[in-house]
Amino acid sequence: MASDKKARRIAVISGKGGVGKTVITANLASALASSGQRVLVLDADLGLANLDIILGLDPKRTIQDIFQGNCRPDDALIKTAKGFDLLPAGSGLQENTVLSKNLAEKMEALLSDLEERYDIILFDAGAGVGEVVLFFAALAHRILVVVTPEPTSLMDAYASIKVLKQLYKRNEFLLVVNQANPKHPDQIGTSVTKHLQSVISKFVDVGTSPPVFLQLIGSLPQDPAIPRSVRNRQLLSETQPPAASVCFVNTMAECLRRTMI
Ligand SMILES: Nc1ncnc2c1ncn2[C@@H]1O[C@H](COP(=O)(O)OP(=O)(O)OP(=O)(O)O)[C@@H](O)[C@H]1O
Ligand SMILES: [Mg+2]
Repeated sequence: MASDKKARRIAVISGKGGVGKTVITANLASALASSGQRVLVLDADLGLANLDIILGLDPKRTIQDIFQGNCRPDDALIKTAKGFDLLPAGSGLQENTVLSKNLAEKMEALLSDLEERYDIILFDAGAGVGEVVLFFAALAHRILVVVTPEPTSLMDAYASIKVLKQLYKRNEFLLVVNQANPKHPDQIGTSVTKHLQSVISKFVDVGTSPPVFLQLIGSLPQDPAIPRSVRNRQLLSETQPPAASVCFVNTMAECLRRTMI
């Protein structure tokens, strides 16, 4: 039954590609669903969708089909066995890498159709700061930036935050530090956040207010179980034995849930 409450939208972005957005989105969605949240994951990597692959699904219909009038949203929506729903996107669709007025309007209409059914809608964005990524970030109530301790990832996260502040006046960002040293992932998470925050204060905030605020919601250690889970098209909680990093995802989900209240 529809409720008055509309879903909170969270865009998962990173700047740099391949840092773990899709893995984190899928596992976070499952953890949030386990805690009783009604969760929809929208594959916002419209040209190179990956979520269906990670989840071991083979969608017959995608967002593209909805927009082309080939099916209704409910025909493309997949109720996954992991407790959350997925709206899959297509792959190799170059036209979807450009944000047309038509695409933007249809996406906004689709979201307003769906948002009363869910508590949380996660957008798994593509890499970069292209117009489709920025569009999803602008549509979201919260922007979650995935970053690794590597300087290239830090630089691209910094650049994404800078662009979002300058173009959309966004100044609050959630942070997940991925691929942290497994010996002390939480310390790495804290030090990466402090470092990024200080660079932003120095070069982005200067002369503008309010300042950017980064909130670390969790770290995920470098874990060989993660590429294994991707190869097996499973979530971390489904691997045997369950991956040690599951508890980091659960902590992250709990922190994210609290920021939504
Ligand atoms: N904590 C981790 N430990 C080990 N490997 C990881 C970890 N996180 C992610 N990976 C590996 O990195 C790969 C890339 O992850 P993923 O596809 O989620 O990145 P992405 O940011 O979504 O990439 P893209 O920008 O292309 O969408 C995964 O296949 C996984 O094997
Ligand atoms: Mg991805």
